[in-house]
Amino acid sequence: MDMETENLYDGREQTLAKHYILRRYLLRLALIVGKWRRTINYVDCFSGPWNVRGEEYEDSSFAIAVHELLSAKKKLAESSSPPNIRCFFLEENVEAFAKLHEYSKTVQGVAVEARNNRLEDAIEDIIRFCAQGQKAFSFVFIDPTGWKGFPLKTIRPLLQLSPGEVLINFMTSHARRFITLDQEKENFDALYGDPEWRTELSPLSGDERDDAMVRLYAQRIRAAGGFQFVNYTPIFHRAEDRTHFHLIYVSRHQKGVEVFKDVERGAVEVMEKMRAQVKHKKLISGGQALLFGAEEMHDSSYYSRLRTYYLTRAKNELCLLLQRCQPLEYDQSWELAVSYPLVWEMDLREWITRWRQEGRVEVCMPPGTKVLKRGTGALLRWK
Ligand SMILES: C[S@@+](CC[C@H](N)C(=O)[O-])C[C@H]1O[C@@H](n2cnc3c(N)ncnc32)[C@H](O)[C@@H]1O
Repeated sequence: MDMETENLYDGREQTLAKHYILRRYLLRLALIVGKWRRTINYVDCFSGPWNVRGEEYEDSSFAIAVHELLSAKKKLAESSSPPNIRCFFLEENVEAFAKLHEYSKTVQGVAVEARNNRLEDAIEDIIRFCAQGQKAFSFVFIDPTGWKGFPLKTIRPLLQLSPGEVLINFMTSHARRFITLDQEKENFDALYGDPEWRTELSPLSGDERDDAMVRLYAQRIRAAGGFQFVNYTPIFHRAEDRTHFHLIYVSRHQKGVEVFKDVERGAVEVMEKMRAQVKHKKLISGGQALLFGAEEMHDSSYYSRLRTYYLTRAKNELCLLLQRCQPLEYDQSWELAVSYPLVWEMDLREWITRWRQEGRVEVCMPPGTKVLKRGTGALLRWK
């Protein structure tokens, strides 16, 4: 992203991180899926524009999606017949919709349907739209401002679009404050689809409570859509040491998870860089003369603490699984490890190397294989 576009996010750097993930993931998804599906349906259920500064909406999720999907289409056209790209943009607010509609009319190379409606009243339209795409793969983005307007019961048909994937913004910072208020009980139960999550959440606090709020919700999204994989990743607050929201990603393909985890790693770098710059600017504007640059001065202890928390949990759970399943496929160990936020395949490899050196794990690789890799049938045996 160039500096000019980056500047559009001044004061709302969390959106920059969200858009980084959307941008990077969509491009790679379209390049992969576009080779085996004739159509890619992209559905933005809460399109905006919302606090957008770019004259051409370049800092909005809908314009980002169009840009990335068109780039993929162009690239795919170099070697084969490219997929049809179809977008459905939904927005409830009348003024915002007028802008969205104007933008939609300027788009070329992508079929766009823009609707001024509430998500609750547009589900049938979305399903019909997706069904009209031939041999289609559907990607649904749900990016609300709070916790209302997308109860689990309502979005279930969207989650069940197959083949398809869904990305949901879970507003952790709002949920943290409102989830236990009596007047919001019905709304949160509708969001989760049942009241049982309360029992698990009530004894928890701090990072554990934050994690449980999103994990319990993500599990329900996974079950409602019949997805094999679910991931969620924290988006840090621009200036404070806390998570502002989480992005939840559900997929039916291992490849999707691999790409999402790659993008997550990139997003962490982007977030830490931008958080460093925000703090640096604040100090300078307060009149402090600084000897060091933003990144040198940045205190990354919040990120490190969260990563350590997830690494520990993933590693402990993997140890238990290894002891229970003799032998365990490497692919299964990967599936478990990377289902935790901020845990990557490099971490898993590091644990296995150490366990091997300590004589705690035996690795059986098929003849001719030298590197531990997924899809090779490699096995791990706890000793
Ligand atoms: C967080 S903003 C979306 C931001 C946008 N996805 C982006 O990243 O650029 C949420 C948008 O959803 C709209 N909205 C709120 N409730 C809605 C509902 N029930 N159905 C459809 N749109 C809704 C709001 O007017 C707002 O424009």
